[in-house]
Amino acid sequence: MARPTVLVTRPLPEPATRLLRQHAALTVHGRDTPIPRRRLLKGIREATGLVCMGTDQIDAALLQAAPRLRVVANVAVGYNNIDVAGATGLGIWVTNTPGVLTESTAELAWALLLAVARRIVEADRYVRSGRWKFWQFHHLLGSDVWGKTLGICGLGRIGQAVALRGRGHGMRILYTGRRRQPGPVEAELGAMFVDKATLLREADFVSLHLPLSPETTHYIGERELHQMKPTAFLVNTTRGPVVDEKALVKALRAGWIAGAGLDVFEREPVVTPGLLRLRSVVLTPHIGSATAETRTRMALMAAENCAAVLRGERPMTPVNPDLTPRP
Ligand code: DGY
Repeated sequence: MARPTVLVTRPLPEPATRLLRQHAALTVHGRDTPIPRRRLLKGIREATGLVCMGTDQIDAALLQAAPRLRVVANVAVGYNNIDVAGATGLGIWVTNTPGVLTESTAELAWALLLAVARRIVEADRYVRSGRWKFWQFHHLLGSDVWGKTLGICGLGRIGQAVALRGRGHGMRILYTGRRRQPGPVEAELGAMFVDKATLLREADFVSLHLPLSPETTHYIGERELHQMKPTAFLVNTTRGPVVDEKALVKALRAGWIAGAGLDVFEREPVVTPGLLRLRSVVLTPHIGSATAETRTRMALMAAENCAAVLRGERPMTPVNPDLTPRP
């Protein structure tokens, strides 16, 4: 029998490539740039497995063009880029990479939180500009973090890791979301469940950790930004469309809130121009999981999921667990 083919949309760390090679012939898009659509469409025709990035659009047309495809292994925890219902209808497994990027993403949320609170990026620019001539008592004053209130929207894995760090900063922790966490989780984190309006009204820092869905699109818009304190900061490391970017620019300009730390954007890599002109925001290019260790773990997990399906087994972390696989 011919070896199955796996299409890989970016070069992966060696351990992941090695594992995939043990099971299949690989077609790898050899550059760390988005795979062109026509290449994707061509490669998918023969592929039994697809290892793709969270930025690749795996839509109905692509899935329909893949008669042999058995698994789409996303190298990301989010999977809003994949038509999961369509894949499930065709008997194709869809997998993601939960758990392995929790701490890195929580670290980036905290890096953004601290950067906006203490104006780190502005301070760096000031030093580099050569304008630093003497120490000033009133210059670059930021906001304390210690003892303030941290509001977490979505207390899943990453939200919990952010909350844990908040404890280390002596913070009062509020959270909101679809589900209340069990008592022991709340107790360990010292986190209190509140409704969205209460969280927005009371939090000094609001950190978003809800997955993107039709319900969470523009979860933070004009109304919500109005509910926040004028001294509060917003941090988004989940998905851009969770925040209405136009409303955010308006809120920052008008002083409805004090600042924002954003790693994700509504139309990546396009950033709403108003944001680029504001000193009160810190912007990073979707690097939540970007550490060497985490990216290796993510790639390996995706490769393991793909390899399991090629061996005729169930993948470890399916997002469509009730699938009846393609014969
Ligand atoms: C994820 O894993 O969802 C990250 O945002 C990378 O896409």
